[in-house]
Formats: sequence, C-alpha cells, structure tokens
Amino acid sequence: MIRDVLKMGDPRLLQLSAPVQRFGTPELEALLRDMQDTMAALNGAGLAAPQIGVPLRVVIFGVERNPRYPDAEVVPFTILCNPVLTPLDNEMEDGWEGCLSVPGLRGLVPRHLRLRYSGFDPQGLRIEREVSDFHARVVQHECDHLDGILYPMRIRDLRQFGFTEQLFPGEDIADD
Ligand code: NI
Repeated sequence: MIRDVLKMGDPRLLQLSAPVQRFGTPELEALLRDMQDTMAALNGAGLAAPQIGVPLRVVIFGVERNPRYPDAEVVPFTILCNPVLTPLDNEMEDGWEGCLSVPGLRGLVPRHLRLRYSGFDPQGLRIEREVSDFHARVVQHECDHLDGILYPMRIRDLRQFGFTEQLFPGEDIADD
C-alpha cells in the first residue's frame, strides 16, 4: 500500500527511531511492502520507515540503471534494519541531494566518501558492505532519517539550497 510521506516540519521526522527487535514477522513484512510501494510510486532512491510515520530503524534504497541518466551510479536494491555506519577515512565529498520529505528542493551536502555499513535483512541475516561515492551517500542520507536528521540540517552553505527547477533549469530531474 502506498503510504503518505511525512514532510519537513512534521515533528515525527525529528524522532530517534527504535531498533527492530524481531525479524521475519508479518508486521515487518507488511511495513517493508508499504515502504517499497511508496518508494516506487514516488520514484525515490530510498525511504526510511520514519518517513511514513513508523519510528523503527529500517531503511530501503536502490537505484536502477536509467536510460535518462546513463552516467548515474547503480545501487543494488537493499533492505537494511538496525544499520551501523563506519566511515573508512576522513574524506568528505559534497553532492546534491533531494528527499521525498522535502519535495521540490535540492541541497549540496557533505558526506563521507567511503564507509562500511552493517545491519540485518528482514529475516535477521547479517549484511556487511564497503561502499563509496553515491552508494555511500544514499546510505548516509537514509540512515540520518533514523536519528531525526534531514539533509538540510547538514548543508554547510545555504546558498547551495533551493528549488530543483531554479538550481538546474531545463534539466529533467526526478522530484525526490
Ligand atoms: Ni530523505
């Protein structure tokens, strides 16, 4: 079921979310189905459970190959519960981000370039990966939602924050 996505200003987006306690339950499966339906309907690169009003440490993300953006990095579809992120070094990189909870806007956000992440799939099997670049950026953005952090809070220069249409005139960019 496609769920409403909470928008910035809703205090529920600022909450600290709780860890998943039990894996493989019908409740967790139902939550994940709703998250996938919602992300697909809105063409998002990722979604965190608190964005649909569920304060649990669950994120999903993934970017398929898209003929409109042949240079865009592919990120495998991933479901991650109780994620832990560990930067591999101190290198940060600025990149443009959007968010389904901040529709129509983009901001330039510094993120760790390389990190290891671990967590659990819906059955409770451990996931561990080392990633970089866009994959690393997407994970950091989604996991921030679990701690009540929205990307505008991380923008260093607010002149690099604005409406997608004005920042990138004439470009065909998804509204997420
Ligand atoms: Ni977001």
